[in-house]
Amino acid sequence: MNPFLFALPDNDVLASTLAKKLGFEKGRVVSRRFPDGETYVRFEEAVADREIILFCSLNTPDDKILPLYFLAETARDLGAKKIGLVAPYLAYMRQDIRFKEGEGVTSRYFSKFISNTFDWLVTVDPHLHRYHSLNEIYSIPNRIVHAANIIAQWIQAQIKKPLLIGPDSESEQWVSDVAKQAQAPYIILQKIRHGDNHVDVSIPAVEKWKAHTPVLIDDIISTGHTMMETIGHLKKAKMPQPVCIGVHGIFSDNAYENLRNAGAQKIVTCNTLFHSSNAIDVTDALAAVVKQLQKEEKIS
Ligand code: R5P
Repeated sequence: MNPFLFALPDNDVLASTLAKKLGFEKGRVVSRRFPDGETYVRFEEAVADREIILFCSLNTPDDKILPLYFLAETARDLGAKKIGLVAPYLAYMRQDIRFKEGEGVTSRYFSKFISNTFDWLVTVDPHLHRYHSLNEIYSIPNRIVHAANIIAQWIQAQIKKPLLIGPDSESEQWVSDVAKQAQAPYIILQKIRHGDNHVDVSIPAVEKWKAHTPVLIDDIISTGHTMMETIGHLKKAKMPQPVCIGVHGIFSDNAYENLRNAGAQKIVTCNTLFHSSNAIDVTDALAAVVKQLQKEEKIS
């Protein structure tokens, strides 16, 4: 029997598309707060003897992990077989080192929590910087959807003479891959982060690219400061207004509006997090990877 897919609140649109593409049944869960702030969860369909997939993109993760944990525990309690997690955006990947004495390396603690709660994990382009593979911190079977090819297709179809720009050395892995597949030139900048809302970016000579459309590419757009700082330099160099592409558009606070006001010609994201900027669809690739994992790990 096919797995039963359940979406956590705010994940319905993407989860329904995925369920349809996979031919899986989509069930309903209730997850809400009691008046005292505690979490209530309930499966509205019987889950006994079924493979279960919980679908939840993990931006603002602290609000989501307890409902997720309670739902996974409830499913096990009610006799579900394996319980998988599809999290198009995987949180806590950026805290991959103790930057300052006394800090927690929360990527490790978070991965331990997810690995203890679920039987497998599928995600889209996690922020692998100092870790080279999810297997360094996750102990459950996992698969990654790479969006480079899908982003490259979008760029080829939508942008004339693109110059791809990666804001920091971490982005080179994505940008070089997208550039190769889109057959476009690329440059990588140097970034120094001084705090959550303060980054400096240095830009190499870009004058020779004036006839190109700058396309900034990053895996995550959170406060937008990395992209805004880059846009500032491009303006000084009298480059055309850039297109900004993020795999995961978190857009904390007013990041989207700020980025528009800073001079982004267009802001485009993959639909790993539901947002009006979603223009690059990763659901076909997500469905293919879930199917492949099912087959390889003999799930269902
Ligand atoms: C950095 O480690 C990531 O690849 C992104 O550059 C970063 O998350 C962007 O953050 P923000 O939008 O807050 O500058």
